[in-house]
Amino acid sequence: MMIEHDRIYHADAFDLLPRIDDGSIDLVVCDGPYGVTTNQWDRISDIQEFNLKLISIFAAKLKDGGALYLFGKPNCIDFIDYRPFLNLRAKIVWYQPSRLSQGRLNYTNNYDIICYFIKGDRPKTYNLDAIRVAQLVELEHRLRCERVPSVTNGKFGRTKFNEAGKNPGDVWGDIKQLTYKSKELVSRDALNTIQKPEALIERLIKASSSEGDLVLDPFAGVGTCPVVCRRLNRRFIGIEKDEQFVAAANARLDELQREEEGCLFNYGT
Ligand SMILES: C[S@@+](CC[C@H](N)C(=O)[O-])C[C@H]1O[C@@H](n2cnc3c(N)ncnc32)[C@H](O)[C@@H]1O
Repeated sequence: MMIEHDRIYHADAFDLLPRIDDGSIDLVVCDGPYGVTTNQWDRISDIQEFNLKLISIFAAKLKDGGALYLFGKPNCIDFIDYRPFLNLRAKIVWYQPSRLSQGRLNYTNNYDIICYFIKGDRPKTYNLDAIRVAQLVELEHRLRCERVPSVTNGKFGRTKFNEAGKNPGDVWGDIKQLTYKSKELVSRDALNTIQKPEALIERLIKASSSEGDLVLDPFAGVGTCPVVCRRLNRRFIGIEKDEQFVAAANARLDELQREEEGCLFNYGT
């Protein structure tokens, strides 16, 4: 069976992934099990070995220079050797200061890790201008930085301040986790461990893919990545083994299509 694009397969990822052509994927967004919750799908005895297996599979599926974003807890790739497969470029900290901090014998974890890998030495796509964030520096501080000798004597060129904003860096505290009050939450069931904010997935997709590129989301949940792909004109292959989540994801895609058709209709009349 040919794998079609722009649909979410109701399947186990490990059954479907072998059927995807090697070297055909531009970007993988892998928001799968973290191995920490009591959800049935999250019960993984050795999350590091699980992730290593995924990394080896994605390495084959990616084009040269293609990117993988692997979500997890801070230890999600500890003590495994992923280097034969992919290059780790960054560990992005997705910081959630509002998480309840109830630890008694340790510091409560209040961030997730998004491991950014690429296949080969150079990313084929890194659209920095699409993901710049506001430069929160005071004018006085900025002027002071511009007056330092390394800038004024021309050795390092002009100041690096960019009116369009700065690189978001590798600690992201500006995108909040969804709460039960969030408008985009599809249901209470999807809270916290499941549904990710569209803004978070959007940043990954904008940075590491271009229009028309093929994005693989092997653990699609309620379809955040497919929805963002469709909005940004990326093709996608989604896989999700929970039937209800597949239905919720398809409902979101249908809703988006209705909105887009409505816009076209209003525009045309
Ligand atoms: C963290 S959630 C993904 C959430 C998604 N990013 C979203 O925003 O909706 C992980 C998902 O992986 C699914 N899953 C876990 N193991 C799977 C497998 N082997 N094959 C396919 N889906 C799986 C779970 O059912 C769950 O919906």
